[in-house]
Order: sequence, then C-alpha cells, then structure tokens
Amino acid sequence: MSNKPTERPAARARRQRPRHALALSALACAAALLAPPAWSQANAALLGDKTAFIDDLMRQMTVDEKIGQLRLVSIGPDMPAKKLAEEFAAGRVGGTFNSVTRKDNRPLQEGAMRSRLKIPVFFAYDIIHGHRTTFPIGLGLASSWDLDVVARAMRVSAEEAAADGIDMTFAPMVDISRDPRWGRTSEGFGEDPYLVSRIAEVSVRALQGETKPIAADRVMASVKHFALYGAVEGGRDYNVVNMDPQRMYNDYLPPYRAAIDAGAGAVMVALNSINGAPATSNTWLLQDLLRKEWGFKGLTVSDHGAITELVNHGVAQNESEAARLSIKAGTDMSMADQVYISQLPGLLKSGKVSQQDLDNAVREILGAKYDLGLFKDPYARIGHESGDPADVNAESRLHRTDARAVAQQSMVLLENRNGALPLKKNARIALVGPLADSHLDMLGSWSGAGVNKQTVTVKQGLEQALQGGKLSYARGANITEDKHIVDYLNFLNWDDPEVVQDKRSPQAMIDEAVKAARNADVVVAAVGESRGMSHESSSRTQLTLPESQQALLKALKATGKPLVLVLMNGRPLDLNWARENASAILETWYTGTEGGHAIADILFGEVNPSGKLPITFPRSVGQIPTYYNHARLGRPFTEGKPGNYTSQYFEEPNGPLYPFGYGLSYTEFSLSDVTVSQPTMKADGRVDATVTVKNTGRRAGATVVQLYIRDQAASVVRPVKELKDFRKVMLQPGEQKEVRFTIDRRALSFYNAKLEYVAEPGEFQVQVGLDSKDVKTASFTLE
Ligand code: BGC
Repeated sequence: MSNKPTERPAARARRQRPRHALALSALACAAALLAPPAWSQANAALLGDKTAFIDDLMRQMTVDEKIGQLRLVSIGPDMPAKKLAEEFAAGRVGGTFNSVTRKDNRPLQEGAMRSRLKIPVFFAYDIIHGHRTTFPIGLGLASSWDLDVVARAMRVSAEEAAADGIDMTFAPMVDISRDPRWGRTSEGFGEDPYLVSRIAEVSVRALQGETKPIAADRVMASVKHFALYGAVEGGRDYNVVNMDPQRMYNDYLPPYRAAIDAGAGAVMVALNSINGAPATSNTWLLQDLLRKEWGFKGLTVSDHGAITELVNHGVAQNESEAARLSIKAGTDMSMADQVYISQLPGLLKSGKVSQQDLDNAVREILGAKYDLGLFKDPYARIGHESGDPADVNAESRLHRTDARAVAQQSMVLLENRNGALPLKKNARIALVGPLADSHLDMLGSWSGAGVNKQTVTVKQGLEQALQGGKLSYARGANITEDKHIVDYLNFLNWDDPEVVQDKRSPQAMIDEAVKAARNADVVVAAVGESRGMSHESSSRTQLTLPESQQALLKALKATGKPLVLVLMNGRPLDLNWARENASAILETWYTGTEGGHAIADILFGEVNPSGKLPITFPRSVGQIPTYYNHARLGRPFTEGKPGNYTSQYFEEPNGPLYPFGYGLSYTEFSLSDVTVSQPTMKADGRVDATVTVKNTGRRAGATVVQLYIRDQAASVVRPVKELKDFRKVMLQPGEQKEVRFTIDRRALSFYNAKLEYVAEPGEFQVQVGLDSKDVKTASFTLE
C-alpha cells in the first residue's frame, strides 16, 4: 500500500482509477445486506450531543480500532479487493482518498458497516478548482478579485463532489507564494495576505455551506498546507522554510487563520520544515499555535507520506520515532502510509505514546465524521444504488454555464496596443501554438475528476464564435524540444502522456505557422507552459517560455501581422520579449472546462476583461522575490531617480514587469483624488476613504478599486503598503461611481515585535488605485 514518494500525484490518480474499479466491484458483490449500525441503536439517544456521543463510542473501542481510525488510505492498485474488504471490515481504516464515485465508495462504506462498531469511513479527494466541471486554477480565481465568483466555483465543486459520494476536500490551498519558481504557485491564490485570506474564507463557506452537520450536498474543507509551504527555499518543492515570527504572523499565517475562523473542519499539515522542525512533528505549530492560540477544534491530516518522511528530514531515527513524534505533536491522521497502524501498538505498550495521545487524535477523526453527518447516515453523500448516475461523466452532470461565467472573470489583459483586441468575428485568424488545441492543458494542475475531452480548447472556442471569418490552425511548436523536460513531464504516466510531441522538425512546424500567419489578418498564439510544468514538484529555474515557443513567436513577429498572445501558465512568466513585441497579451492561466469559450468571449469582446493580477510579474528570475508589499528600507530604490547606494539591480530596470493588482480593460477608467472623512481617527473609531471611479472609454466594463495602507512610522519596520480592501465596480461608458472604504482599527493593526496585535498611533497614508503601483494618496492620524 505504500506510495512511492517520487510518483507524481496526478499521474498516480489517473493510473489508479481503472484498476481500482475492478477491485471495488468484486467487493460490492461480496457485500451482505446491512444491519443498521450498532451505535445507532445503542447511542441513538446521544446522537444529538457530539461530545457525549463520541465519549460513548470511544469507551466501546479497542486500542486497535482506535489506531485503525488514524489511517487515511489512498485507494489504488496496491490494495487488492480481498485485502480491501478485510481492512475495512476489521476497522483498520478511518478514511480514504482518490476513489471518486458513489459506486466505488459504497462498497467501502459497506465494508466499514461490517466492522464491529460500524464506524463509517469518510471519502476525501483533492477538489482544488472543480470536480467534474473544472474551473480556472487558483491564480485565475484570484484574478477575478470577485469573492462571489470564487464562491460560485467552490459551491459547484462541492455539490459535484458530494454528488459523487465524497465527504471531504483537501482544499482550499491558501499558501502565500512569492516565488514563481515554485510549481504550486498555480494552486494558490497569489502573494497577498489580505486577498488570499478573503478568498480562504469564502471558499470554506462555499465548500462546507453554513450548516452543522455539513449538508449532504457539501463537503468538509481541509485547509492546506499548514503552514508556510509557499515559502520553501528557492521555490524548490518540499524544501525548508526559515522565517521570523513577525513575517509569519503578518504575511503568511493570516490565510490559514481566516479559513479556520470561517469554520474549516480540517487542516492538512505541510510537508516542509519550519525553522528546523518539520510541520508534521511540530508541536509549536500544531498545538501552541493551531489549537491553543487559534482555538482550532477540528481534524489534522498529514500530507502524503509525511510521517514516514520525518526519517528523511533527519528528526526521527526510524518509523517508530516518526510515529511517536507526529502523534505527540498533534498530527491526527496519517495519509497514505502505514506508520501509525504499524508503530502505535508497540509505542503504546512501551508507554512512549500515551492512551491520551491516541485518544486526542481519535476524537478529532470521529468529530469530523460527526460534523459530516456520517453517524446519522453513513451514506449521506453516497446515496442509494438506484440513484447512481449511469455515466459519471455525463454532460448533464457538468456546470458549463458556471464554468464559463467564472472563467470570463479570471483572465488578465496585460497589453493591448492600437486596439488589437477585441478581434472582429469576420477576421481571418491564424491560430498557432502548442496550447491552442490541447484539451488536457485547459484543465490545469490538480484537475480533480475533470475529463480532458470535455474541455473546450481555444481552437474550438474561436471556431464556434467566428461569424464570416476564417480560422487556420497550425501547431507551430512543441511545448519544448528538450527531451529531458518532456520525459520529466511524462514521468510514470505511460497510458496518457501529459505532453505529446509532434514528430515534425521545429522548422517545419514554424514554416507551417508562418504560412498561416501570412494569409491572415491577425495571429493568435496560444503559448506558455504545459499544465505539468506548473504542478507539485515542478519547480523551475527560469520563467521564460521554452525556446521552441520563443522561436515560433519570433518568426510570427517577423511576418508583420498583429500578434496576440493567449498565455496559459501557472506562475508569472518572464514576458520581456512579449511585452515589447506582442500587440496584445491575455493572461488566461488555465481556464478549465469552458476555457475555450470564455477565451473567445474575451478575444471577440463579448466580455470585457476585468481580471487583475494577484501576484507580481518579475522582469527576470534574478529579481525574485518581487512581491509588492515588501518592507520599508533605509536606502530604497526610487524609480526615475537613479543613483548608487540604493537597493537595486544595476543590469536591468528595477521594479516589476507587471505589478500586483494590474490588469487592462477594453475601456478606460479614471480615478479621482482620494479624500478621507476626517484627519484623525479615534482609537476605536473609523475613517472613510472615498474616490470616484469613472468609465472614460466607450465600452461598459468593470475594474477593481484597491485600497492600500502605509503605516508611516511604527515600532518595527512595516511594508511599503498593504492591501486592505477592494471593490469591483461595473460601469457603463461615461458612468461614474463613488467608492467608499471604511477603515477601522483592524486595517491598521499588525503583529509587533512581541507578536501583539496592535494598531499604533501615528500617521497612515491611504493609497487608492486600479493597481498597486499607480495610486492616489491621502493621510490621517490614529490618535
Ligand atoms: C499534496 C497534497 C495533496 C495530497 C493528496 C500531496 O502530494 O502535497 O496537496 O492533498 O498529495 O493527493
């Protein structure tokens, strides 16, 4: 049952499903008619009282049954049907992940119902940005700067997952990422603590719903990766994190806290170490911070194989020590390894782990099942066989309208020269690029149960939208010609390669594309990264487009035709060449099932783009990190004022290529000066900051008005500015609206050197802009 740590999860999941189906159907045949759970008779009276119910159940459990609850099994080929049946019936499994249909999950629950105490198992899965319907990746959702849009994607994802018999998702992923070399940047919501925290909250509420127990059409959220995973050294996945407490508290921890305050039922513990202590065995993290300081009352789950990996981290001699350290630290459930089940019996006998340590963990697991409503109905989400969908991938189960609407909001227009966009529907378009007709890449990383073929590619989207125009398509280039990279991306994924190479020579492909370009009015090039390039364990040393694609773009540019770039990527890229040479650049990230339609909607101007960057685009890798809310300096670099002895690089321009919060529209907006309601704010008072935003262009469109605050002088060094609020505003041509932000004490507060959450008296500068760089300012003083 052990998982090879080198195996890429996406590949793993895809390879496992078909074989697993066989295993499960065998088990289903063996399933007997089920008696109602013993506890539902014995404890029926207690079901309304969570603590009493769990206490009572725990009194009946043997040590082995308790240890069994701690085991989270990855359903896959390593566990044959017979073994599977025995394990569930013996009460040696607490929950599973990676089995994603009612039909697959039912026999497993039936197995659990044959166990002595009939304790239900729960079914989890990585539903990161969609389940059957795939929505844009995290960076795309965040680019909407629209919490209703995020909530819509998460709610639909939860409903689809619950309809497949899934109880829990390992989401939202709220790791702040300031280093685009890290492949998992794609999964998160960007670099900003405030924006990511707001998204974390709405995601949890949308996934879980507002009721307790969680309704049968929602799933429990397991916020991850706790904590600080996005700050791994050098952007290298699984690496160490060293961070001072102030940075943690002010910048990296808020999103996890926001998710927990919003009621997240579970927390996934990160794979990295923090200041020398792996998160999995980090008592400070899991007890002092999470439980005591934040008051978290839910379940903690290790990441994949993380307990065993304590031996690799070098903090445990062997698996026994690894198990002892993690359970004592507060990692309740062990994902995809056998460490707890194999080591805890001995550790309990020798007294190295106490009954109390074990009980603490078991209580949280049973608590999660209680909150999921599984004790009332173990089949709450699995339902009855008669209700199983004939085809889990049936069109009718998808939410294409939601997917298209959300995707339309997730793209960022980075450049648009001479009105290159929108395109005319009667234009002759040459569509080129390795991503122009790639179903798989539309899905992006961690695409849940999304199906390649059900996605709409850019080619399909444009073809359907044209009216009187003509589309000629040429692939133009492979994602890369680097065999090493192709092999890496296709690692262990024999059945369904991630990257399929066109066998023609690079020049032959370019020639075909150039020919198509010459016969067209405009060239649309869909270029970027294959989805696997922005994934777990896909760290990069460069942010440039692979050479094959860059060569294609140069050849296309030489034709003199307007060149529109449709970018697909899961991290900020180095776009220096594109910025100088492309007529327009649309950042689409990975847009999901309805991506091609939504991209066509934007390219043809059916929808006016309104996305804003949730992460800074650097000029080069050497500039990283380039997050906008960096600390104040003694010798800051000031744009337009060159000089030695300031904090800068001398070989290239300083500052970002595209700043945080940036994004264009097909219309223009103006922003008035900002006024504050009063010059001073009482300690418990409020100040309003008001601006008027006007659509000065000729099309209706939306923009995001952003409020930043700069603490002018504090007891510690503070950031140059911090996002504190934002408002997305829709305006007709010529229309203007007043936007009023209310600033309270919380917006001025931060963790000081003693980690006290304080708002210090003094002057604050209010900055309001349509991005983080170009802002209007005003000031007030906190008394
Ligand atoms: C990832 C987690 C994921 C887990 C289960 C791990 O490799 O780090 O984010 O939830 O696998 O698939």
